Amino acid sequence: GRTRHYTFNVKYHNVTRLCSTRRIISVNGKFPGPRIVAREGDQVLIKVVNHVTDNVTIHWHGIRQLRTGWADGPAYITQCPIQTGQAYTYNFTITGQRGTLFWHAHISWLRATLYGPIIILPRRNESYPFVKPYKEIPIILGEWFKADPEAVISQALQNGGGPNVSDAYTINGLPGPLYNCSSNDVFKLKVKPGKTYLLRLINAALNDELFFSVANHTLTVVDADAVYVKPFNTSILLITPGQTTNVLLKTKPNFPNATFLILTRPYFTGIGTLDNTTGAAILEYENPLSSTSTASSIKTLPLFKPSLPPINATQFVNVTQFVQNLANKYRSLASTKFPANVPRTVDRRFFFTVGLGTHPCAKNSTCQGPNGQKFAASINNVSFVLPSVAMLQSHFFGQSNVLYKTDFPTKPTVQFNYTGTAPNNTNVSNGTRAVVLQFNTSVELVLQDTSIIAIESHPLHLHGFNFFIVGQGFGNFDQNKDPAKFNLVDPVERNTVAVPAGGWVAIRFLADNPGVWFMHCHLEIHTSWGLRMAWIVQDGWQPNQKLPPPPSDLPKC
Ligand code: C2O
Repeated sequence: GRTRHYTFNVKYHNVTRLCSTRRIISVNGKFPGPRIVAREGDQVLIKVVNHVTDNVTIHWHGIRQLRTGWADGPAYITQCPIQTGQAYTYNFTITGQRGTLFWHAHISWLRATLYGPIIILPRRNESYPFVKPYKEIPIILGEWFKADPEAVISQALQNGGGPNVSDAYTINGLPGPLYNCSSNDVFKLKVKPGKTYLLRLINAALNDELFFSVANHTLTVVDADAVYVKPFNTSILLITPGQTTNVLLKTKPNFPNATFLILTRPYFTGIGTLDNTTGAAILEYENPLSSTSTASSIKTLPLFKPSLPPINATQFVNVTQFVQNLANKYRSLASTKFPANVPRTVDRRFFFTVGLGTHPCAKNSTCQGPNGQKFAASINNVSFVLPSVAMLQSHFFGQSNVLYKTDFPTKPTVQFNYTGTAPNNTNVSNGTRAVVLQFNTSVELVLQDTSIIAIESHPLHLHGFNFFIVGQGFGNFDQNKDPAKFNLVDPVERNTVAVPAGGWVAIRFLADNPGVWFMHCHLEIHTSWGLRMAWIVQDGWQPNQKLPPPPSDLPKC
């Protein structure tokens, strides 16, 4: 492979959306940020220079980071933040991945505006296992806040309540024509008739799983989280924050006398407030017959609208079932060339409950969370607290003892009917606790949504690995019955999975990557409330099974 160099200047930049201007933090004055384009096998070096007053780190979401854990990016897990005026060069090689991923800030809520696509092309002499697209177009779904997202989260954490929701959903940074003041802030996908386009879809939103649909066009899914899948057709997709999906869009054979809306809007599962508005873009055909397919002639064409599942609590069962059926359609290619290397045996089993909870409110004060307490979230009732020094550093230099514990519970201490009545006590316990795995341990992990405070879908993201989704279902996971139904033949391989609302999901992965690896809900508010933990994977004994020492420019705390 080649070596590719990038420089990311993290700077302030004024952006106007919804008729108001806000100073945001972005990279190289671009929003969304610049693309990283590389081929499988390439080495990528990105020098990140911090020109703002906030501390910054960047995560290359979904990149395996085989033995390059120092380049992963989550603040206080693999590195201390890059401080004002400092720089750090992320250095990694892309191994065994092709498709779309994305990069984003991994500290506080800075990823609200600090994000951009990572495009991984196949090796030079290799082609796609599907028809060669005429054009490839990244489409990033996001959220726009009129207020500063850093202020939104710090206020929420202080008063213990839920944060203010965003003011718009965006497509490539633009809210689109369904919002006031946005008729010019529209992403236009301009196409020619009779061609196949590859849309590289990314959900970079902070807090919402998003439906996506293009009016009167079918999407053929070919890739998920930079792994090829068995192609399937759908008119509606659900993409969770942290997930990426490549789809083929075949345009109509002849110029249609219409334009088509592309819509994105949230999947409503939990309780509480959400922005129930819709982000939109436009699919516009360029008329091949007239060189003068002017703006005005296109404006007069009828505009078709796709239909999306309702945002409506009364439709909860229907919509969650629809979402589950959609998730089940994703299958590995499992071909000779692209086998599904599902771990056949399991060395260690874990059962993690994921969900919300509360912290008691300080004496003589009032909190705006449930029952006058503070909102919290946890895995096995542990609400993870970030340490003051990056865990990977402490682990590597053997200074762990005081900074974190290695006793993360392998199953919840209190088990209950997760789909029935939640326990009265919703308090979580704080801790900086990790699971230690020996090199090459084969792990099976069942993630169970609890009904504490809300029945909600949680997009869980694991750093440093892809995992296979071997099973999922509604209700309580049953260790006696459910494993018999696991798919070990062609389960989809991903880095982010939605734990279904009121249900469970089972994943398997091989711990072949030494380092410290974060796992968390990719809904940023849940991460902030503590729905996160870390896996420590020890070195193997062979030289190529060890994590090398940190680069000399690794930031200090
Ligand atoms: Cu995309 Cu730890 O996150």
